[in-house]
Amino acid sequence: LKPVAPGRYEITQRVAEVEILPGIRTPLWTYGGTFPGPTIESRRGRPVTVTHRNELPVPTVVHLHGGRTPADSDGYPTDLVLPRDWADHHPMPDPRAVRTRLTRDYTFPLDQRPALLWYHDHRMDFTAPATWRGLAGLHIVRDDAEEALGLPSGARELPLMIADRAFAADGTLDYPSVDATLRDRPGVRESFLGGVLGDVVLVNGAPWPVHEVDAARYRLRILNASNARHYELEALTDAGRRLPLVQIGADQGLLAAPVTHAALPLGPAERYDVVVDFAGVPVGSRVRLVNRLGSGRTAEVMAFVVARGARDGSRVPAVLSTDLPSWDSPARVREFSFRAGQVNGGHGWLVDGLPFDPARTDVTVPLGDVEVWRLVADVHHPVHLHLAGFRVLSRGGRPPLPHDAGLKDTISLRPGEAAEIITRFDGHRGRYLFHCHNAEHEDMGMMANLEVV
Ligand code: C2O
Ligand code: CU
Ligand code: CU
Repeated sequence: LKPVAPGRYEITQRVAEVEILPGIRTPLWTYGGTFPGPTIESRRGRPVTVTHRNELPVPTVVHLHGGRTPADSDGYPTDLVLPRDWADHHPMPDPRAVRTRLTRDYTFPLDQRPALLWYHDHRMDFTAPATWRGLAGLHIVRDDAEEALGLPSGARELPLMIADRAFAADGTLDYPSVDATLRDRPGVRESFLGGVLGDVVLVNGAPWPVHEVDAARYRLRILNASNARHYELEALTDAGRRLPLVQIGADQGLLAAPVTHAALPLGPAERYDVVVDFAGVPVGSRVRLVNRLGSGRTAEVMAFVVARGARDGSRVPAVLSTDLPSWDSPARVREFSFRAGQVNGGHGWLVDGLPFDPARTDVTVPLGDVEVWRLVADVHHPVHLHLAGFRVLSRGGRPPLPHDAGLKDTISLRPGEAAEIITRFDGHRGRYLFHCHNAEHEDMGMMANLEVV
């Protein structure tokens, strides 16, 4: 996206018909008419202001996922950008927080490690249908140190936003509850307790794309922007050889050193920065990115066709970064459960037995304190913390898994698992969130308030 002035962007949220399936126009809720929304590229420490204008038929909220953002620009779920005339006709969930306006400036200091961030809708009770209908886009933060490493760049750096969707016969997106939240629809809610899945896998808005590559290293910056689908990615050649996935970064930027995986699990909202080397793959043959957790069509994600031999001046240094925080001596240890429970007389999803309530403060942390959080899950829950990146200390009482390396903002808890994370709550005071990033779980209540004071 081109700035309108240095550090200033404008995005109009509007309904647009976008061709996703060949020859079919699908009406979407968009950032600026496209899906994904326009990618914003920023430099570390250079503040950016994005003016969002809401021309959609519903209120919206913009959150920059992974951003270290002052609370008033973090996209609190009741801090709405209203469409025209909305407030005259609808009760507001939290009248104190609501700002009646059609446009809103979100300011991001971006004083943080370079990373692949993403922006998406975060309206209370309606995040899942809004992101499903298209309200998601990428925001890449860069800096000189990262660029000096010699990693694959330019056309050999590919951000890949992976998201599954379901389509009705007429090409419209299929979502089980359009005008009401799942939380308020007991029958519908019970059918979608695991979240809403689609049978079409989109990468950057295209179904199962095929991308031509050189026989060289590529940097794949992978985001799982699905509402609820988990993936386990593998890169398979036509000859059945598995190409190593060399992980160089996590949610919050570069690792200290590369970690090589045969397969990489990817929960909703997680990002993995991975280098794949197509040298040695015969020209004219393919490498498929497959999903080991899928079946039939959802077992395929995309394919690369090695179109030509090429020179490769890129490298993957043994030391990628030296600025990863290593916190210790936590001021306190807290525990939170992420479990099913009762909401409005039916099944819902709860943090410590309670559904989200914007009027309640669940956790208060003094600015600058280091804390260890023990997170306990009943089923799969990708737990995301706003404001503060964290490191994984343990899973199930054991050391973290290889893909837990680096600085993260989302940890994918497996069924019955307890994990410990450590972070320092610094940067900004104010009201933030932590929640399950299964978007339906979030809308069904699995979200809590964190107040940094
Ligand atoms: Cu990606 Cu609270 O969100
Ligand atoms: Cu977030
Ligand atoms: Cu969940």
